[in-house]
Amino acid sequence: MIPAFGLNVPTQILFGPGKLNDLAEIATRFGRRPLLVLGSRSFAATGHYRALLASFENLGVLPQIVHIGTEPSPQMIDQIVADTPATAKDMVIAIGGGSAVDAGKALAAMLVERGSVSRFLEGVGTETPSGRKLPFIAIPTTSGTGSEATGNAVISSVGANGFKRSLRHEHYIPNIALIDPVLALSCPRELTVACSMDCFTQLVEGYLSDRASRLTDTLALDGVRAVYRSLEAVCRDGGNLAARTDMAYGALLSGVVLTNAGLGTVHGFASAIGGFFAVPHGVICGTLMAAANSMTIKNLRQTGVNAQALEKYARLGQACSRAADKSESWYQDFFIAELERFTDQLHIPALDQFGIGRDDIDKIVRQTSNKNNPALLSQGELTEILLARLRP
Ligand SMILES: [Fe+2]
Repeated sequence: MIPAFGLNVPTQILFGPGKLNDLAEIATRFGRRPLLVLGSRSFAATGHYRALLASFENLGVLPQIVHIGTEPSPQMIDQIVADTPATAKDMVIAIGGGSAVDAGKALAAMLVERGSVSRFLEGVGTETPSGRKLPFIAIPTTSGTGSEATGNAVISSVGANGFKRSLRHEHYIPNIALIDPVLALSCPRELTVACSMDCFTQLVEGYLSDRASRLTDTLALDGVRAVYRSLEAVCRDGGNLAARTDMAYGALLSGVVLTNAGLGTVHGFASAIGGFFAVPHGVICGTLMAAANSMTIKNLRQTGVNAQALEKYARLGQACSRAADKSESWYQDFFIAELERFTDQLHIPALDQFGIGRDDIDKIVRQTSNKNNPALLSQGELTEILLARLRP
């Protein structure tokens, strides 16, 4: 019997090359005065942007434009809220990478909510968000965080007392997720590798999570197949539209899966490391994915506490392998070997390249959550994972 489940997703998902052309008309459902949140200025330099502005003009849509250059901080969100005129509050549209989409999501909420965003951040503030917000349209230009389908916006403060925490409410899932893989064609290789490993990690962790459902499992496995078949191609040739479309699909599904099933230890590490050090989120995921999954399988085999998780690791191997009729452990080992091959062949940087040393391990491990990981890893096991990605 299929166990009970629930699923929260955007009200509408629009997916496919050329979908950006429909944005102006879609926006008029909510009004004609949007706050338009853009990422780094690379999108603003494209013909897509000029065409979008022309289509806005044709329909009388007058956007108020803000640029997000870095990961959003509480100060940045509060300042934009203070600077946004009352006339630009029909809706928020975000076009960009994870930072721009997260900033747009937080702004859609904070333009309605009162006070600083810090008051509502998990683990930082003391208040619970009401869930009220402006209509929000999310348009990713990279394929990674899946933020176009999630109910949380990651807000960062980097430094000694730094943090990476979420503003979260199920109502914050975008009203419309518009995914046009053409927008990712010009994404540089390094960013493509990091983003791809982020969504791959999210799919795998959501699939293995103890909160997964029959439906999130189906979505996660289909996402894993899409990412696995196109990961190397998209890193080799960023202009390959079929590969970009696979990655955009995988990223979208990873957002749906993580919002409904949660994540695992790699994202626990990413939250801790990202607060202390300026390491791109996708690089942390990519660099730790093989080591963390290898340790989880080792733990599961030794303890025998979660046979279902080991079976799922075998399904992951089957989703990636063309070999038939192999044993469960063969598929598990194949999956880990492929993760190790990606780490190697995609030249994913080790952690020491970002100034992280052995002295930092304890504080990272103390802040790392095992939440939703299929095996409860000890502090010693978490330390071993980090050591595997610090060159001696
Ligand atoms: Fe992630």
